[in-house]
Amino acid sequence: MNPNRRVLITAALPYANNHPHLGHVAGVYLPADTYNRYLRLKGVETVFICGSDDHGVPVTISAQKEKSSPQEVVARYRGIQEKVFGSLGIEFDHYSGTSTCEGHAELSQQFFTKIFERGDIEERVTEQFYCDPCSMFLPDRYVEGQCPICEAEGARGDQCDACGQSYEQEQLKDPECAVCRGNPKIIPTKHWFFRLDRYEDRLEEWLKSCEGWRDNVRNYSRGIVREGLPARSITRDLEWGVPVPLEEAKDKVLYVWFDAPIGYISFTKEFFESKGDTESWREWWSDPDVELVHFLGKDNIIFHAVIWPAMLMGQGDFHLPTSIPANEYLNFKGEKFSKSKGVGVTAEEILELYDADRVRYYLTVVAPEGKDTSFTWEDFIQRNNDELSDVVGNFAHRMLTFTAKNFDSRVPHGASNSAFIEETLAVIKESRLQWDDALNRQKFREGLDRVLTLARHGNRLFDLAEPWKSRKEDEQRCGADLAALLEIVHALGVLLLPFLPSTSKKLLEAFRSCSPQPEKALASLGESCVLMEGEELHPPGIIYPRLELTSEESDLS
Ligand code: MF3
Ligand code: ZN
Repeated sequence: MNPNRRVLITAALPYANNHPHLGHVAGVYLPADTYNRYLRLKGVETVFICGSDDHGVPVTISAQKEKSSPQEVVARYRGIQEKVFGSLGIEFDHYSGTSTCEGHAELSQQFFTKIFERGDIEERVTEQFYCDPCSMFLPDRYVEGQCPICEAEGARGDQCDACGQSYEQEQLKDPECAVCRGNPKIIPTKHWFFRLDRYEDRLEEWLKSCEGWRDNVRNYSRGIVREGLPARSITRDLEWGVPVPLEEAKDKVLYVWFDAPIGYISFTKEFFESKGDTESWREWWSDPDVELVHFLGKDNIIFHAVIWPAMLMGQGDFHLPTSIPANEYLNFKGEKFSKSKGVGVTAEEILELYDADRVRYYLTVVAPEGKDTSFTWEDFIQRNNDELSDVVGNFAHRMLTFTAKNFDSRVPHGASNSAFIEETLAVIKESRLQWDDALNRQKFREGLDRVLTLARHGNRLFDLAEPWKSRKEDEQRCGADLAALLEIVHALGVLLLPFLPSTSKKLLEAFRSCSPQPEKALASLGESCVLMEGEELHPPGIIYPRLELTSEESDLS
């Protein structure tokens, strides 16, 4: 591994009117956090950036509905988001927001100006919806109607959730004002369009060169580029947003999807500046050796894999994404999670009932990595019981209590060359390598499954060794076998770290007197025994008691 490897990780900026629900967590924030923890465990230098997407229509609508201001809405939701991510153990280096980050508006305007000066932005008079009762233009989400492509109802002004396609709003059929349900009229207004067609060749070339990407991201984006990219309007008739830096566009703002991804950069800048370092952000964004990884849901693919790279190409100063691990959706009873439609479970709701690692566990095993998956309470309870409690928790508990009873809670004397220790080490090594390979490919389900397999092997080896018998007949062999099995428990603690940080911490606490730091131990797992014999163990007690399905979950469904 490159000892100086650096990875900048971003998670899609949640709109500042969203309670994060489990669909968001499973698809975006949890895999991003897991990846970050994995890289850090491997000694890779990372920066992990996120924050709220404050501008645009959704926040304006919320403010209008509750008769407050966009600033108030943003402040409240940002608080909720930070609290939820914090309680899930999702630890960003910096969580900012596009309306409060210092320098964000300026950088966004610079982006616009640079592309404008290259001649890649053109002015057009467009026909836009205007709602008389609301006396405002109705861009994007203010308008609802029938999708011109798949004909689904409830499609938004510029994008259809059902088919994932986007279009210009005048194509939408049977439009209605989302605020007052009136029928908006169409009147002319001037807007500025990003000439994406001028970037097609470069985008195609670049996408072709991207290796190891998920098919859903690469093939989909290449398809879109090949079809030809229409110019996209990047300004809006709104008051809330980043002002367009042109004299003749004084009452307009940049389209939220133009300024939002720039937040990744402005937040990185703010992060380093808050530490008194005014220079490093530039390196993280322009040094071609830094890997840039964007985590997001599938509805964001086109923005991150086509439009955002074109925006970056238009600047010239910044490097392009290295990988874009986009997920499909986690559904609830066959529907996409949605707080506003009351579908599914919010992170706050589940965290009132269960601790974070149980949630992290389940959301990783059902992560919608290759296809949509479903959350069900029954499955949540069952996987927690059958896997976390019965396999991982039970194995660790058995080994540690057995050692406590028979070996005074100390690592017994091992045997360096028994067939048993060799098999045990081989099993650990194999698991570590597969775990590493899976996580490196951003296959988190697979990585976690490898850890479970290791615990299953542990249980099998324990039964094979029968230490409860050998304890009476051959105490030395019993101790040696147990020492080997404790290596597995310890390895579980290390390998679980990216997935279940507090479980991992509990397990590793048991070994605090007899093992090196996990970052140091990792590479040795399965190569040799890492536990120091004779040193004390500190068993944590039962880690995962079995769960029962209570009426509270049923109430939530
Ligand atoms: N707010 C958008 C959403 O929730 C995501 C914005 S990601 C960024 O779909 F790239 F624009 F930041
Ligand atoms: Zn209206």
